[in-house]
Amino acid sequence: MHSIEPVRVSSWNEWDPLRHVIVGVATGSHVPPPEPAVNAKVPEDSDMLGIHGIRPKETIEKGNELLDNFADTLRHRGIRVDRPTPIDFSQPVQTPDFHTSSQFGCMPPRDVLLTVGSEILEATMSYRCRWFEYLCYRPLLQRFWEDDPEFRHEAAPKPRLTDRDYRKDYLADSISEEQRLEWTARKHFVTTEEEPLFDAADVLRFGRDLVVQHGFTTNLKGIEWLRRHFPDHRVHAVNFPGDPYPIHIDATFTPLRPGLILNNPKRRLPDEQRKIFERNNWEIIDAAPPAHNQPPPLCYSSVWLSMNILVLDPKTVCVEKSEVYQAEQIDRLGMEVVEVELRDAYAFGGGLHCSTADVLREGDCEDYFPVQPD
Ligand code: ALA
Repeated sequence: MHSIEPVRVSSWNEWDPLRHVIVGVATGSHVPPPEPAVNAKVPEDSDMLGIHGIRPKETIEKGNELLDNFADTLRHRGIRVDRPTPIDFSQPVQTPDFHTSSQFGCMPPRDVLLTVGSEILEATMSYRCRWFEYLCYRPLLQRFWEDDPEFRHEAAPKPRLTDRDYRKDYLADSISEEQRLEWTARKHFVTTEEEPLFDAADVLRFGRDLVVQHGFTTNLKGIEWLRRHFPDHRVHAVNFPGDPYPIHIDATFTPLRPGLILNNPKRRLPDEQRKIFERNNWEIIDAAPPAHNQPPPLCYSSVWLSMNILVLDPKTVCVEKSEVYQAEQIDRLGMEVVEVELRDAYAFGGGLHCSTADVLREGDCEDYFPVQPD
């Protein structure tokens, strides 16, 4: 038997050659019960309104089949793959500050784990139902810690998540899309500034620079916390006014390789925030349209999971199999497309980027933006 190589943790950006990754698991996934942050996200016409509990068994089986196949595709390309250990998500979460009757799942490790160099940081999270999700990754992170003497396992301060963390006007029974867009344009998001909050999937890594979405799941204090936590990095807050549900940056802004970023054409980066990219000759282009008009059933995400792609190296990109327009665009940009069927797993928490978290990419920390904005 071959001995397994010891793990090494290192990843500085979204595109250097991927060598080791975590792929999520759908087992035990729940539709969580209502809570302030979740209510703000579920669209008015969603099939998820009014239901919660364990997801249908056959959808979990199908989701796991697709996630297993995705893991095998990566392994066949020489990438090491690890999987989380689901906890029992039917258990309630009780803290001194809140109670919620069940949890979420562990299909999207990207939401929870932020890898920056030799550190993996557990995010605060901002939904009550996701408060204990980090436990699913502890068996892996403990093993990494035993293996790699350079690995820094960090956890951000667990938030209180009392009602003071959420704006009451987002609890209204009915909020028009127009109202939502007006609120998000003026950065009136569901989360308040009560305490630092961030989800890891609001962060994109560009070597020395971290680009963080200010929105529903990450507040300004969360961004300031990241700034103080990573003193050798420059941390940039961005927001995308066209998004009525600004949760996680990875269906909105997708770096493909040094110098090139896809931006969701419905959620454009404001001019002022483009300067850092423009001054350093990075091109921001519109992403191709999604192939679908609707997300799959019981799905939180939008059709823009089309651009939730996983870059394997600066010439190779995993794209969801049905997202033909996105694949065509990647192909036209001169990159190889690896088709991965995952649409029937979207409902568990996202697409190809969401369902993965980096452990090891080749390469070092580089400065891609030597010219900083004034
Ligand atoms: N919140 C992102 C979207 O659904 C993932 O577009």
